[in-house]
Amino acid sequence: MDKSHELATLGVRAGQARSNFNEHSEALFLTSSFVFDSARQAAGRFTGGEDGFVYSRFTNPTVSMMQDRLAALEGAEDCIATASGMSAILAMSMALLKSGDHVVCSNAVFGATVQLYAGILARFGVETTFVSATRVSQWEQALKPNTKLLFVETPSNPLTEISDIAALSALARNAGALLAVDNAFCTPALQRPLQHGADLVIHSATKYLDGQGRVLGGAVLGAKSLVMDGIFGFLRTAGPSLSPFNAWVILKGMETLELRMRAQSERALELAGWLESHPKVARVFHPGLASHPQHALALRQQRAGGAVVSFEVRGGRDAAWRVIDSTRLISITGNLGDVKTTITHPATTTHGRISPEARAAAGITEALLRVAVGLEAVEDLKVDLERGLK
Ligand SMILES: Cc1ncc(COP(=O)(O)O)c(C=O)c1O
Repeated sequence: MDKSHELATLGVRAGQARSNFNEHSEALFLTSSFVFDSARQAAGRFTGGEDGFVYSRFTNPTVSMMQDRLAALEGAEDCIATASGMSAILAMSMALLKSGDHVVCSNAVFGATVQLYAGILARFGVETTFVSATRVSQWEQALKPNTKLLFVETPSNPLTEISDIAALSALARNAGALLAVDNAFCTPALQRPLQHGADLVIHSATKYLDGQGRVLGGAVLGAKSLVMDGIFGFLRTAGPSLSPFNAWVILKGMETLELRMRAQSERALELAGWLESHPKVARVFHPGLASHPQHALALRQQRAGGAVVSFEVRGGRDAAWRVIDSTRLISITGNLGDVKTTITHPATTTHGRISPEARAAAGITEALLRVAVGLEAVEDLKVDLERGLK
């Protein structure tokens, strides 16, 4: 379909491929394999000489629809769907890196991403240097002749730090490396990293692409030469493929993505403003607030601030836990990206396994709470938080 359509249109329409039944809603092809008309056709499909579906570890019509829709939204040439966000990062890394390569990674990425680079990939001879998400000079200093990949997540979790994608992309290009951006927090509805010069976009589709906390999924997007020639080869061999069922849920989730992201961002900004004026709150982190250190960059790079608001309460861990334990509406859960608002205490949950020193360096204090704002009325969320704050 015409890729020049607006995001809202692409989210609803892009990627649909109708079967012979001419169904209106996208079909769910719950099948592990596909049959062939003849031995000759089977041979042709297996060697890749003939187009067509073979086996759902490689690809599947429902997964293809999901990939094509997300590619249209991100403005990417190609997309490969994976079983989860982490397997997207793994597939990209296994396909593009080898022993002896070096990676520069923001120190404000998702905890499992840190473990993947610092723990698992290090065992295979890939060295990673972690640097500040926001200080471009640190990225520059960390570059080595063997640097092959720069990896960043913006906005970061949970402090919503914003990295300058265009500046990092220029650094990567000069160094002959690739820049990958984890776009899980913004989604293409709010930020399209490829337009700012990124080479690859990573998604945890588990978050806002599904949007209702139902399934795990992930994706890697970028130029066809990177995605299909390298990453698809790893996926088809190693198998962290997306199930057709999950692809179907995510595909339908993307139909409301633009609306949800706009509405959830608006609610988050309103809640952030209220928290900022609250006497029991010491600090609030949301890119849409004028007080956010990278507010101007966020306005340039994103359509809105996103749905995550973090804040420090006065009184340390006890006060933070009191806010959580006093909620009756907001869900106490580590996930985010849902239409149901969630709350978590990063220091003892999502970031509980990293050392106290690393936590302090990342700015995650015992007083910090992260709220991922959903679609409930903001007034009800304020009442729910006020109970534990007062
Ligand atoms: C920014 C970000 N990237 C990647 C992941 C990993 O995604 P998944 O849980 O789908 O493997 C998460 C999960 O919370 C995340 O928040």
